[in-house]
Amino acid sequence: METIWIKEQELEKAAQLLLEGEVVTFPTETVYGLGADATNEEAVKKIYEAKGRPADNPLIIHVSSIEQAYEYAEEIPEAAQKIMEAFWPGPCTIVLKKKGPIAPTVTAGLETVGIRMPDHPIALQLIKDTGKPLAAPSANSSGKPSPTSAQHVYRDLNGKIAGIVEGGETGVGLESTVLDLSNPELPTILRPGGISRNEIEAVIGTVRFNPDLANHSDTPVAPGMKYTHYSPTEPVIIISEKGIGWEKAIKKYQLEGEVVGILASEETIKQFGKKETVMFSLGEKSDVISASRRLFKGLRFFEETKATIILAEPFNRSGIGEAYMNRLEKAAAYSVI
Ligand code: TXA
Ligand code: MG
Repeated sequence: METIWIKEQELEKAAQLLLEGEVVTFPTETVYGLGADATNEEAVKKIYEAKGRPADNPLIIHVSSIEQAYEYAEEIPEAAQKIMEAFWPGPCTIVLKKKGPIAPTVTAGLETVGIRMPDHPIALQLIKDTGKPLAAPSANSSGKPSPTSAQHVYRDLNGKIAGIVEGGETGVGLESTVLDLSNPELPTILRPGGISRNEIEAVIGTVRFNPDLANHSDTPVAPGMKYTHYSPTEPVIIISEKGIGWEKAIKKYQLEGEVVGILASEETIKQFGKKETVMFSLGEKSDVISASRRLFKGLRFFEETKATIILAEPFNRSGIGEAYMNRLEKAAAYSVI
């Protein structure tokens, strides 16, 4: 299939393709999404095919207003109303009991649906132009780091999707927080993301924080969390502050014949980067927002270089740092030295 590039000024082309049952990628404030009409079963199946996504991992639907969310949720508890008012449009997905004509494949057989209103003019316009909720996972091949630019999507999915709406680099760089409010008695963060636990608790009080529930439970709640994720071709190792340290770690892997990639703060690169290493800066050590914005880009950067292993820097877990560490730990399959 030919994948066409679509400019922001010709968004009606993208809307047209979506209404014809095709899949089209578009930017959101978090990462690029791979969209299809969420009410069209055949179209939604194409998302799973293009990504190679396991069939039991449900998709988020994207709406352009709070009113539109009411069409697809059986019940919107008070906590959900508060979250929508506080954070929509924005990077918080709310899981609620589903209703309405959503294609069964979207929710992978669950009785609940994840809904979010993205904070990006192109995404919002596209949803309005189609008049449909758009099912959209991150627009990467399953298992790869999520795409933060249209070029990332092109590399993974060229020839497998109908169109790519070009919209520059995304702002947040990590995916939305997934907050389960389907049982209002037990509000639970299933995936840390663009909105932090503190921000959520300031609005609705204490929430359970259990991003890896799916790994330890017989009944997975966020099925997506059990799969390996965000992995570039090269192995990733986290250089912990309490471990052997950058200098020794770099030497160790070089002696083993590896070309070392350093994915780290400006400060770490200045101090330990050598010319035999490949380096990608995440910004200043104190700026976890910048590190989050650049993490996926950095992981993908090394695929284009000679690096055979990536040594990566942990950041403070406060705020979006929780999401940064969650993605990095998964990319590294929890290997830390
Ligand atoms: O920022 C984002 O959320 C991006 C942009 C494109 O909106 N989308 C995204 O989608 O990250 P995806 O499919 O890559 O991740 C969705 C996550 C998965 O872990 C999935 O298991 C979980 O949300 N999820 C979706 N529907 C769910 C449901 N009904 N119950 C529990 N978890 C759900
Ligand atoms: Mg994803």
